[in-house]
Amino acid sequence: MTVPVIAIDGPSASGKGTIAALVAQHLDFHYLDSGALYRIVGLIGGERAANLDDDTEMSRITLNLNIKFTGTGVEANGREVSALIRDEKAGAAASRIAVLPGVRAALMTLQHGFRQPPGLVADGRDMGSVVFPDAGLKIYLTATPEERALRRYKQLIEKGGSASMAALLQDIRDRDFRDSNRAAAPLLKCAGAIEIDTTGTPVDAVVAQVLRSYQ
Ligand code: DC
Repeated sequence: MTVPVIAIDGPSASGKGTIAALVAQHLDFHYLDSGALYRIVGLIGGERAANLDDDTEMSRITLNLNIKFTGTGVEANGREVSALIRDEKAGAAASRIAVLPGVRAALMTLQHGFRQPPGLVADGRDMGSVVFPDAGLKIYLTATPEERALRRYKQLIEKGGSASMAALLQDIRDRDFRDSNRAAAPLLKCAGAIEIDTTGTPVDAVVAQVLRSYQ
């Protein structure tokens, strides 16, 4: 019997991570935050002063990385990196290395490994289109760029940082453009995906809608 998968894709800050983790919790399924993998590759590449646009160099780094989700965070080569990968710099580096086909291929086996009984909820950009094309349920989460920038803004302020709404909005627009226009596994609403616009919708209501679609 194949292990069921719920694929949740969508642009930056569309609420995928929050929704996917809660859906996984409700169903007692495993959860894969695929964006964290791209963020780790971006972070490590940056730290090693690698050329983030060089597929050969970045693929080699990716294949030699030991990534482990610990339940409370994520480790790269035994080092806790959960906080480091969340900053805007790691996000921008992730979006850059995510265009590289070799890096995407190197992360494929790792992602397939998360498909374990009783089931998996996976979030990212290409979960339904490329990584788990046979997923039983595919969701495409969206929200307006303004709403997504505001969510980012609140997150950063809550963490005690500072942020400019205008800069965050521009960053979201730039990332959307890069993620949607790359040749390798671009962000798209794939065939059969149910689109949910989360603008102004409480988290609980979106989770309930995903669970209803699954049942
Ligand atoms: O979901 P996120 O913001 O953590 O993702 C960070 C970057 O990683 C994003 O700009 C695009 C890339 N990404 C991807 O290309 N494919 C995925 N499945 C997940 C993330």
